[in-house]
Amino acid sequence: MEPYFLEWANLLLRWVHVITAIAWIGSSFYFVFLDNNLQKPNSPDLLEKGVGGAMWAVHGGGFYNPQKYMVAPKKIHTKLHWFYWESYSTWLSGFALFTVMYLYNAGTFLIDKSLMDWTPVMAGSAAVGLLVAFWFVYDIICRVFGFRQNGELIVAGLMIVVVAFSSWLANELFAGRAAFLLVGAMIATAMSANVFVWIIPGQRKVVAAMTSGETYDANALAIHGKRGKQRSVHNTYFTLPVIFAMLSNHYSFLYTHEHRWVLLFVMMLAGALIRQFFVQRHAFHLGRASNPWPFAAVGVVMILAVIVALKPAAPVASAAPATPVSFAQVQVLVDKHCLSCHNAQVQMKNVRLDSPEQLKQHAQNVYQQVAVTKQMPMGNATGMTEEERALIGRWFVAGAKLD
Ligand code: HEC
Repeated sequence: MEPYFLEWANLLLRWVHVITAIAWIGSSFYFVFLDNNLQKPNSPDLLEKGVGGAMWAVHGGGFYNPQKYMVAPKKIHTKLHWFYWESYSTWLSGFALFTVMYLYNAGTFLIDKSLMDWTPVMAGSAAVGLLVAFWFVYDIICRVFGFRQNGELIVAGLMIVVVAFSSWLANELFAGRAAFLLVGAMIATAMSANVFVWIIPGQRKVVAAMTSGETYDANALAIHGKRGKQRSVHNTYFTLPVIFAMLSNHYSFLYTHEHRWVLLFVMMLAGALIRQFFVQRHAFHLGRASNPWPFAAVGVVMILAVIVALKPAAPVASAAPATPVSFAQVQVLVDKHCLSCHNAQVQMKNVRLDSPEQLKQHAQNVYQQVAVTKQMPMGNATGMTEEERALIGRWFVAGAKLD
């Protein structure tokens, strides 16, 4: 496909993906908030109806009084609203974006030949395989340990190990940027699968029993409510880590770091802890949970530790004046390392470097990509050396002259 249209596909899918994700996470955060703020009603007629918790809220010029029925109300009086398209459309748009960006261009974006020299088809299949594998591992952990005594803690502990391992594995196999995204996508796939495989089918069974007109055993149906709740609580802890992984795409200083899998893992864990702070804070107001602040504090300290650990060393001023670099030297390097992807026919990111004027026009960005973030050549496809990078750096710093 023409790169121009591919760019549009990328932009439009990203737009849709962010919007659907906002809708999904918004409703998911809202229901977690709601659940944590429900209070058992006093009024006998509410209790008699089966209302287990209610709250009052004011928003947008009116008052809202949501009530939660444990298992199911006797009757549903108005249209029943479901919440699943937010989740499904987030996953579908995300997978489409992943396809356009990383599977279609696997040779450029997914594969880092210095880590793993494999074909685009193999790398792409491995990436998709990891999405599926993560879900199965997570689901088995939930099924085996989820409802035991202290099940939540066992699941949390095991999932921390699984996410750490996934981060390590993805970063061993794929280019850093793709690896970060993939770990986020693995967790996000499990989140959507929670909705698709357990939450919604469970709710459908409860609704079917309620509307069948026959008597049903509420205790037998309670497992669907319990499991739905369990999985939606997991989703809330996954949210901040996933968003971090998705946004990390823009920050090459993270995903090009030699210990990048640790960075990704620590930042994700910090996100989950900070989410715990928010969840617990709702209940803390009502005197139903202990002080949430330690979670926020630990999360923030972890982020600060990463910031300090990554701080680049101050450049050592060299005693000898830098040898001047001629444009001819730069052009040799650009011809050798850049033209295959930035010429009249192939123009990655609309950057052409096949004439001195174009090189001059993009000099700032070239310097940034080659000498600072070292993102280019993509995946260091052409094996550019540190000396060559330094040479381009000196050329730019000295004014990017064309002679
Ligand atoms: C194997 C193909 C390939 C090679 C070789 C390559 N690039 Fe790129 N370049 C890309 C791709 C793909 C993008 C788009 C990256 C993105 O979308 O983030 C890109 C983007 C860029 C950008 C724009 C970055 C931005 O986000 O604004 C610059 C500047 C650039 N390359 C410079 C270079 C220079 C200089 C070299 C040679 C030292 C080089 N590239 C070699 C594939 C390549």
